[in-house]
This record gives sequence, structure tokens and C-alpha cells, in this order.
Amino acid sequence: MKIKIIKTVDEIHSTVKAIKLSGKSIGLVPTMGFLHRGHISLVKESKIKNDITIVSVFVNPTQFGPTEDLNKYPRDIDKDTALLEAEGVDYLFLPDEKEIYPDDYETYVEVTKTSKKQEGEFRPSHFKGVTTIVSILFNCVCPDNAYFGRKDAQQAVIIKKMVKDLKMDINVVIMPIIREDDGLALSSRNIYLNKEERERSLLLSKSLNEAKIMIESGEHLVNNVIKKISNMFLKESTIHLNYIRIVEASSFNEIEQLEKGKEYYILIAARIGTTRLIDNLLVTV
Ligand code: PAF
Repeated sequence: MKIKIIKTVDEIHSTVKAIKLSGKSIGLVPTMGFLHRGHISLVKESKIKNDITIVSVFVNPTQFGPTEDLNKYPRDIDKDTALLEAEGVDYLFLPDEKEIYPDDYETYVEVTKTSKKQEGEFRPSHFKGVTTIVSILFNCVCPDNAYFGRKDAQQAVIIKKMVKDLKMDINVVIMPIIREDDGLALSSRNIYLNKEERERSLLLSKSLNEAKIMIESGEHLVNNVIKKISNMFLKESTIHLNYIRIVEASSFNEIEQLEKGKEYYILIAARIGTTRLIDNLLVTV
């Protein structure tokens, strides 16, 4: 079946109303396009669990800082449409910027505390932009289930918190990170890396694995783990580390000591050339 493309809020509202009236469930996969296997894994899960799958493609300006890559963010809507059609996606919601943020737009949604931590220290208004657009998309699509990747682990935690705090009746599903064979986590931004930078970027996933091995071998003092993996970056002067941190998986709070039976994220953010990459590993102690 040919995918149906919807560009206006009025049309997505009326389409969703008709789907709901017919008693069918809706899965939403929000994306900024330039789709890769990570996005497709979300689509496949939505297809399995819902009657109707809607994918949104919208490069959301409010989640980019003034010096970030909004204008050069990669876009290929023809390829995205073909990929989604091949997966049997029912609807592509493809609004333009003014449809979402008309000139008189003035409403924002913010998860005030968790948004300020970790990534929030480096990208101060980023998560406010994310929770605003995700709320708008949730209001447009009224999904039963919404799918996000664990690559953006803090985003996932923040969206879950927003849904809980605002009593939204939506099940947020977080899917595993998809990696290249050599360990690089898939991201639309990987396209920015030249061959040499691509090679060097592998240190991110290698260092996370090293940290995981240390933890699994019994090291529970966070400082010792961080010190060891920070040292791996000392020789790599071309990688500019923003942070390596270990946080409680549910709250993103930093801790000093890992406790048995709890889940933690090991987080890393670094700039390689002009490209900023993030990665993480979930560990259970
Ligand atoms: O993860 C992303 O691609 C974006 O942050 C999202 C959730 C689609 C909101 O623009």
C-alpha cells in the first residue's frame, strides 16, 4: 500500500479521529528524518504492536541552539518516504515549520530539572524544544504507543517524565541502540564525519565497553571508572570530550557508588572535528 503523506494539523486530526472511531490502535514514531536502521527498528516494533503506524518527519528548530547545526541538518525526504513505504508505514506526518510554529506561537513544555542535567548543561534549551515538539506531536496523533531510541537516553527519560507528570495516556517505548558492526552507534549526524573522524569516533563505544567491563568485574566506585576511561582519551587530542558520567538510569542523577540490583547509564559526549556525538551503555550492577 502506498504511504499517505499528511502535511497539515487539520488533516492529521481528522485522520486520527477516523482511526480511533474504527477502534484501531496507533503507534507513533517521531523523527527528524534522514532515517537509518535505528529509526527503522522503531518502525518495525510499532508495526508489530499497533494496527496503524504513523511516522513524523520534522526537523524541529526549537531543539537546536543558536550555534548548532539546524541549517545543515541532513535531509532526504524522498529516500525517507521510500524507506517508510517499504516498511508498510500507513501515514507520514510531514508538516512544515509554520504549520507547527506559526508566527504567533508562544507555548513551551519543559521538564524543569532533568532537562538541566548532563546534555542540558551543554545544550541549555535543547530538551525544552524536544518536550514541546513531542507534546505537539502527541496532541496531533494521540498515539497509544510512541517509540524512541535509547541512543538519546536522557531524551527518553525526560519524555517519560513529561508523560507521567502531564498524565498523558500514552505508552512510551524505548528501543535498544542500533550500532554499526564496529560499534559506532547509528545517528543521522554520523554523515558529518570524514573517514579519519569516523575511525577515531570508535573510541566512544570502546571506552563505554571498557567501563562496562570494569563495572561487571566488581568496580563500584564511579570515580575509578571515570578516571580509567578518561585516560583512554588523553592520547586522542583530536577528540574533545564534553563528559563521561555515570548516572542512575531512572533519574539521570549522578552518583558516587554503584549499588547492586540497580540500573545505570554510562554516558559519553564528545566533539570530533565539528561533529558532536553522544553515546551510552545501560548497565545493571
Ligand atoms: O530524537 C529525535 O529525533 C528528536 O529529538 C525527536 C524526538 C523526533 C523530536 O524532534
